[in-house]
Amino acid sequence: MKLGILGATGWVGQALGLRLIAQGWAESDLVLSNRRASRAAYGAGVVWGDAAAVSAAEVILITVRPEDFPVPGFDPGDRLVISFMTMWTLEKLRRLYPAARIVRAMPNGAAPVGRSYTPWVGEVGAEDAALVGRVLASIGGQDRVADEDQLDYLAALSGSGSAYPALMAQAMLRDALAWGLPDRVARAAVEAVICGSAPFLEGKMGEVGAILDVYRGYKGVTAAGLDAAEPGLSRAISDALAAATAKAKALGQ
Ligand SMILES: NC(=O)c1ccc[n+]([C@@H]2O[C@H](COP(=O)([O-])OP(=O)(O)OC[C@H]3O[C@@H](n4cnc5c(N)ncnc54)[C@H](OP(=O)(O)O)[C@@H]3O)[C@@H](O)[C@H]2O)c1
Repeated sequence: MKLGILGATGWVGQALGLRLIAQGWAESDLVLSNRRASRAAYGAGVVWGDAAAVSAAEVILITVRPEDFPVPGFDPGDRLVISFMTMWTLEKLRRLYPAARIVRAMPNGAAPVGRSYTPWVGEVGAEDAALVGRVLASIGGQDRVADEDQLDYLAALSGSGSAYPALMAQAMLRDALAWGLPDRVARAAVEAVICGSAPFLEGKMGEVGAILDVYRGYKGVTAAGLDAAEPGLSRAISDALAAATAKAKALGQ
């Protein structure tokens, strides 16, 4: 099956292209398009073409930036299209391409290492849905969600990638340096918290309450810190996700 990628050398497009190849999609069945960036990451077996050539593939991934769309010459007809763009809602895309079977997917920054979580939405049949699932599974976990409101919320949540852990790291680093720790020690300590503890939480999102209860149960150093952090931290996260969701919705207007 021919798969086209409009924007094949970008962050998202290249993650998809290279990971699909690594997982067995034949290079000769990939029809790729970009503008001027190096194509060296791909092998010689892939097919490069313009937007019209990508449009002729059986399944088409749109991974250009929203402001670069629509691309002249691109017309998918009635084919299956997976759009990764923000701003371009299903309604806007359907207005341009009324016959196409269109879904929207929202990956995150972990796509190149196969650790994205990619929710998607669209009114397609079971066969198309299975194909969408197969394509998205190349970059990590995927789920079909009920509507674009959920996709907007998830753009704010999983779409943020490492942004909130980075914000927490920055806050901890600032505090540690202001307190007087040497730079090297502050960085090592914060990295242990943000990166070193992440594998411990992996697969345990259903148990975070119980894990926090264990920390609180010691009634010690960390429990005192947790008590001071709440409810401010929860409120800050809720405010952040509300603002980000509103932005995602506004961008689609
Ligand atoms: N990055 C993320 O974490 C993330 C998360 C969620 C959603 N998204 C969405 O994913 C999409 C891509 O984002 P990105 O970060 O991957 O962007 P990016 O790195 O800037 O890549 C954009 C790609 O589009 C290509 N392109 C631009 N105009 C083109 C045209 N007329 N014809 C063919 N190719 C063209 C670029 O080629 P040249 O480099 O040759 O110009 C490049 O390969 C965006 O719509 C964004 O909203 C991204």
